[in-house]
Amino acid sequence: MEQWNPIQSHDPIPDRVGAVIVGGGIIGMSIAFEMARRGLQVLVLERDGIGSGASGVSAGMLAPVSEAEHETSPLARLGLHSLDRYPSFVRAVEDVSGIPCDLRLEGTLLVARTRDDEAELLHLQGIQRRLGLVAEWLDAREVLQREPHLSPRIHGALFAAREGQVDPRAMLRSLHAAVRGLGGRVRTGAPVERIEPGRGGLVVQGRVGDVRGSVWCEVAVLAAGAWSDAVRHPGPALRVRPVKGQILRLTGCGLLRHVVRAPDVYLVPRSSGELVVGATVEERGFDPHPTAGAVSDLLWAARLLVPGIYDCALQEVAVGFRPATRDALPVIGPTHVPGLYVATGHFRHGVLLAPATAELLAETITTGRVHPLLEPFSPAARVEARP
Ligand code: GLY
Repeated sequence: MEQWNPIQSHDPIPDRVGAVIVGGGIIGMSIAFEMARRGLQVLVLERDGIGSGASGVSAGMLAPVSEAEHETSPLARLGLHSLDRYPSFVRAVEDVSGIPCDLRLEGTLLVARTRDDEAELLHLQGIQRRLGLVAEWLDAREVLQREPHLSPRIHGALFAAREGQVDPRAMLRSLHAAVRGLGGRVRTGAPVERIEPGRGGLVVQGRVGDVRGSVWCEVAVLAAGAWSDAVRHPGPALRVRPVKGQILRLTGCGLLRHVVRAPDVYLVPRSSGELVVGATVEERGFDPHPTAGAVSDLLWAARLLVPGIYDCALQEVAVGFRPATRDALPVIGPTHVPGLYVATGHFRHGVLLAPATAELLAETITTGRVHPLLEPFSPAARVEARP
């Protein structure tokens, strides 16, 4: 069974650089790209490999509407903005790298298997309407016309037409090539241990293997996902914990066109024919082990929706660690320490929020003004509001 191999990158580490991005997930790499695009010299330092945390195993659903919980939620607004920015962001990355990210915006089908599911989806439809979004209710016959391999026992589905997906592994490869294509440097296997003020800027200390070293920079961005608390720094305590997710990849399917979700499972069909089936949400710290129970639950739930998956090949079982704060909202913006910024805690929304986080944070860094969409997530606001 194949497993994801995070990208390795061995650029030399300079003594001084404009900006150090700590973390080579989709958030860190997107920020590095946006900063390099603005002419800054960037260095990404990643403790393991590019995409080794949450991004490399994630399904890549772009679903701010499906996941909207409160119609006035700043997170829903940031998510919708990020979804709007996706096509031009991906185009810019692809233009530099030449590597497609497989962005697809065919919409999401939120399938009701029971009457309870249906009532819950109709409530969600109300929220979507208040957000100004058209989300269409389809009866079972209409759903099956669009997706004939779904179970005939379904009740209907809500169709969120604007949503879609991107292939996070392709996007990480594309971002890696694009950052380097713009003259940025990316070094994997380089855990950062400490960031502290020094020599009129910031000194980032870490190691490569057993060799310790430091880099001086004007700007440091802490974007280390679930590992953000492992870096000592004088900024606010972030309190990010890992939330384990197990996710499966099936091949030989070709059964679906849209992203399909039900309360206990989601299915994401890639252009390559791969079908991603996710995902568990587990409070088990950094436990890296896949479990028989999770695989069995996910396959069972997926099979209730799409009986034909029975004949697909089980290609991969992967474990990822979503970075979650106590209130499940991200922390993005400047800290009280000059030059030190954070972008972490994206929990279930890292792939969706990558363009908005990167563009708005890069704008904040270069102009000194925090964009209104980022204000609710600024470290100062979040620390005060923290329970
Ligand atoms: N965004 C989907 C997940 O976290 O499983």
